[in-house]
Amino acid sequence: MEKKSYKLGILVSGRGSNLSSIMDSIDRKELHAEIALVLSNKKEAPALKKCQDRGVPSLFLDPKSYAGKSQYDLALVKELQARSVDLICLAGYMKLLSSEFISAFRGKIINIHPSLLPSFPGLNAQKQALDYGVKFSGCTVHYVDEGVDTGPVIMQSVVPIYDADNEEELSRRILEQEHILYSKALQAIIEGRIRLAGRRTVQKQESL
Ligand code: GAR
Repeated sequence: MEKKSYKLGILVSGRGSNLSSIMDSIDRKELHAEIALVLSNKKEAPALKKCQDRGVPSLFLDPKSYAGKSQYDLALVKELQARSVDLICLAGYMKLLSSEFISAFRGKIINIHPSLLPSFPGLNAQKQALDYGVKFSGCTVHYVDEGVDTGPVIMQSVVPIYDADNEEELSRRILEQEHILYSKALQAIIEGRIRLAGRRTVQKQESL
């Protein structure tokens, strides 16, 4: 029986380095998926240029052209459903999703965040970690629910914070780990190795 290809819908707002790392993992056949559509809420997002360069379908939808957040998110849902996506990946998407969007894809929306959640949710997570003075931070891949970075944790990577770190240097080291972790978590989901048990996720080991 031919294996079904997982279709990803990816939401971006900016640089798109996590998007590139997902594209690279697909090219290396470490991530068994295809990108059905990349959606951006920012016209000038460098992530869109990356899609054009690599022949990945992408679309900019302007939030200003819609009456409100729900209407905008329903337009995103329509585009994603039209391409039969299986999973939605937020990759530097800096806009909160409405409950309409979340209900349309409940349990199928994944985000990556640059801290060890539940510490330092929201914006500028790396600066928050430095300002607080923690000795370790990292990144988290998690399911998205209605809260801000509150959904069940799927995988985390720990990054030590050194005395000499500034925001840029810490962000760079966390980002290196993000690029490894996101594809790893997505592949585990695609292989059906992640089971949700209340607030916890339980991971079955990879078969050898
Ligand atoms: C990444 O560090 C990602 O974790 C973060 O934005 C950056 C996007 O970079 N996301 C959040 O802070 C979401 N709360 P990228 O566009 O190069 O992937």
